[in-house]
Amino acid sequence: MKALLICALLVNFAKLCNCTSTHDQVLSIPVTTKEQAAIARNISSQNETVLWSPAAPEHIRAGTEVHLFVPANNLRNVMDNLQRHNLKYTVLLDNTEELIEMQTRNDSSDPRSSASYYERYHSLEEIYFWINEMAQDHPDMVKVLLIGSSFEKNPLYVLKLSGRQERAEKRAMWIDCGIHAREWISPAFCLWFVQYSLNFYNQNSDITEMLDSMDIYVLPVMNPDGYQYTWTTNRMWRKNRSVSQDINCIGTDLNRNFDANWCTVGASPRPCDEIYCGLFPESEPEAAAVANFLRSHKDVVKLYFSIHSYGQMLLFPYACSNEQVPNHAELVELVQEAAMKIKRHYKNNYKYGASAETIYLAPGGSDDWAYNLGILYSFTFELEDRGRYGFLLPPSLISKACNEALLAVKSVAISVIQKT
Ligand code: ARG
Ligand code: ZN
Repeated sequence: MKALLICALLVNFAKLCNCTSTHDQVLSIPVTTKEQAAIARNISSQNETVLWSPAAPEHIRAGTEVHLFVPANNLRNVMDNLQRHNLKYTVLLDNTEELIEMQTRNDSSDPRSSASYYERYHSLEEIYFWINEMAQDHPDMVKVLLIGSSFEKNPLYVLKLSGRQERAEKRAMWIDCGIHAREWISPAFCLWFVQYSLNFYNQNSDITEMLDSMDIYVLPVMNPDGYQYTWTTNRMWRKNRSVSQDINCIGTDLNRNFDANWCTVGASPRPCDEIYCGLFPESEPEAAAVANFLRSHKDVVKLYFSIHSYGQMLLFPYACSNEQVPNHAELVELVQEAAMKIKRHYKNNYKYGASAETIYLAPGGSDDWAYNLGILYSFTFELEDRGRYGFLLPPSLISKACNEALLAVKSVAISVIQKT
């Protein structure tokens, strides 16, 4: 009886006291004034926290909704700091450990041919096994190409998908996934896309038309070292894992390392920053491998897609300047149609437009570089969601996110095939 009473007292005390959670959390902080923006920039630059959105503190302005990951041991501190400056916040995720556990469960428990395999996230090692199996099981449609290797010498494999029709003048399309390590839905999409292509060739008219008129190159994990690191060590990692000037700060942002207004406003020359541009354009082996491949295939590649998360956006160049590209209106039309189809089929809203005006200036991006190379249909898609789960999108939501993106890719590709 006595023990029960003490227990009840303790439980109530825990509710009353100002105790903070023992879990790592993600906070959402609506920033309304310039002063608040300065404070939010300051708090999100503290090294224990990880900024989820926007990509870097310098993008925080009046009107930005900031999403900030805060480890348990820092929560009290950060919350006090926010309150002291009259910044309101809500808890977006109050137990990220549990979500991470859900995302890594049963990574290789079911066969690679089963539908449920594609509704899970998979480790780098498992994805390599999967690549092998796809090539073995579909020798008539899949070829595996090695286009280079990462800083840590992980291979960069591209799947070349082709239909069975021989056409004289075959064009090509490129999709890369996993430039940013923590955006797990992105590699999941590349797997989804390949599986769909192989299963629905000669069944779905769009994918059949795509595979008969183009070779489709798919790079499932452009940043294998970073991806592996998010599985083993730090789920919130964004950059690659290269070591250069500053041995204390590892990694370059691969989507700032391409030769498109490289390292100007919107990228950082400081190795410790999340949007570090690297030592020089294509200094990173992962970016160089992609750039070399596209340069040597630039006469055939007509479409470029880079898959990211999160935010639900269909973007096109430029991200590296506020200038409009010559075929701006045509690109608007393509993504607007795709967004409308997503809305109609999945009741979900996607923003669309040129990157610089839709999100922020981000020089050195792969899509801008590909565009300047002459690939005039170049896109970056930000998949689900808008921040409810952010980078920790539960496995049960993979299929919807991938189907939306698939619909958008097909819509854009079919329109381009028909007009060119
Ligand atoms: N969120 C992504 C990033 O920070 C994409 C931003 C737009 N940049 C681009 N090159 N499309 O890298
Ligand atoms: Zn990204």
